[in-house]
Amino acid sequence: MTKLPLHIAIIMDGNGRWAQKRSLPRNAGHRAGVKAIERTLDACIKFNIKYVTFYAFSTENWKREKSEINGIFNLLRDYLKENPEYFKEKGISVRHIGEISPFPQDLKDELLKIEKSTNKNNSLIMTLALNYGGRDEIVRAVNAIIKKDKKEITYKDIEKNLDTSFLPEPDLVIRTSGENRLSNFMMLQIAYSELYFPKVLWPDFDEKQLKKALKVYSKRERRFGGTK
Ligand code: FPP
Repeated sequence: MTKLPLHIAIIMDGNGRWAQKRSLPRNAGHRAGVKAIERTLDACIKFNIKYVTFYAFSTENWKREKSEINGIFNLLRDYLKENPEYFKEKGISVRHIGEISPFPQDLKDELLKIEKSTNKNNSLIMTLALNYGGRDEIVRAVNAIIKKDKKEITYKDIEKNLDTSFLPEPDLVIRTSGENRLSNFMMLQIAYSELYFPKVLWPDFDEKQLKKALKVYSKRERRFGGTK
């Protein structure tokens, strides 16, 4: 492959349907989804991807049953708790975007601890989108600018105040499960990203699937509004 994305952003969809097909509770689908995250991280390292972002909990996901929400929080907290050695060994830096203040304290503690301890790692930056929504992020950014008493702004001002200010824009967005929509994920940042919608359900995503996505990406011609 000649052209690789620097930053891949992933909308992990299809956990519920994966579980339903097996007559399992929805949280079993999310648990299998965590395994797919682990496989994807290994594959990103193998293919030399520098940034990967996972949409783990959206501002709209609060509409789900309490038991499902708590299940996701538990999976997240356990995942962060169980993997510091792996992050260290592989040089993975863990970050987040989104407004985490409404999350349970034990989850926030675990997240901030792992972010701090992996801060200097730079083989792969893994960002988790948590209580994240593109519109919410824009509103928070604009409010931050207003507080600085600015009368007129440029796009750079907005960019600098987004949660993603430490990230390059995604080159490739993958949404699994055959749904062709973006669901409020990094709406400003993906203005020029390549979009890829494979049919595979997220818990079945693996190295082979990532390789396929990279192949599709390498054949796309990006013009950013210009000519060749
Ligand atoms: C979408 O599938 C999936 C989610 C909203 C949750 C994803 C969360 C995880 C995989 C756990 C987070 C843990 C870590 C370590 C980041 P869906 O439930 O909408 O599937 P459906 O459309 O088939 O119902």
